[in-house]
Amino acid sequence: MSSASSYVDLSISIGKIFLKNPVMLASGTAGFGFEFAEIFDISQIGGIATKTITSEPREGNPPPRIFETPSGMINSIGLANPGIDKFMEEIAPRLKNLPTRIILSVGGTSIDDFKYIVETVSEISSVDAIELNLSCPNVKEGGIHFGRSAETISRLLSELRLITEKPLWAKLSPQVTDIVELGTAAADSGADAIVVINTLPAMAIDIETKKPRLGAITGGLSGNAIHPVAVSMIYALHSAVDIPIIGVGGISSTEDAIELMLAGATALQIGSSAFADTNLPLKIIDGIGKYCRRQRFSSAREIVGAVEI
Ligand SMILES: Cc1cc2nc3c(=O)[nH]c(=O)nc-3n(C[C@H](O)[C@H](O)[C@H](O)COP(=O)(O)O)c2cc1C
Repeated sequence: MSSASSYVDLSISIGKIFLKNPVMLASGTAGFGFEFAEIFDISQIGGIATKTITSEPREGNPPPRIFETPSGMINSIGLANPGIDKFMEEIAPRLKNLPTRIILSVGGTSIDDFKYIVETVSEISSVDAIELNLSCPNVKEGGIHFGRSAETISRLLSELRLITEKPLWAKLSPQVTDIVELGTAAADSGADAIVVINTLPAMAIDIETKKPRLGAITGGLSGNAIHPVAVSMIYALHSAVDIPIIGVGGISSTEDAIELMLAGATALQIGSSAFADTNLPLKIIDGIGKYCRRQRFSSAREIVGAVEI
């Protein structure tokens, strides 16, 4: 048991949401939360970002949908999900008893589509925040991802801000020329937090069959390989925006988690690496406490942006 003098406060706030510690699970890698609740005690973690829900059901991409590389994984799940109607009927009621913060990820194909889904899920009292998956293609504007245009992000956030009281977290794609421009657009238009990063575009080929490894040909790279990209994007955003940044990307150890916090992340989401080790989130929470004691920090908040340049 730790003595009173070595007590470390791991809690953090993202706007008006209080998290008992900075560690969450990333969207698409932890289902809707209750699946993980069967594997470990989810009341120990800060929160769970659910898989992305869209207005229509989506079957997702043809298999194979996952390919392991030496430094991460490429996935082409294709946002497979039951759609908003089934979600509201069968899944939303099950979120009620989950003992952690629930961040509901949503995706849309147009601003109106996003508005419909955000308005609908805003009724769910057990949803603590809505995470906007901005890597979705904007079908009305030529299929370009929402997250690639500062103007679209501004319009989307401004309109959504008017229709919901729930905190809105903007999850940015790293597939952009200037992440700061897009993060600033989200922050200035009413986002409560920025989540970075989503996966990076990737492809792998079996050299014997000469065929792509994934049914969808290309996919999104996650895991260790993208971690330094996340560090640099969080670092760039930290000095540019004054809303909290949630760091995601290749966290597979306490060191990775601390690095994202030193760069400027207030909280964290763990994705791919929790597949291989479901206890990883708990190990990292413990590791953050130990790091704070070693560095003589009395709270995890002191790590945020503490990189010395
Ligand atoms: C299998 C898989 C499914 C994912 N599905 C989603 C999703 O539905 N929505 C989303 O915003 N991100 C999704 N992501 C991206 C993750 O939330 C995260 O941003 C990315 O994997 C980087 O974190 P990691 O390196 O810790 O995995 C998915 C990632 C993986 C590996």
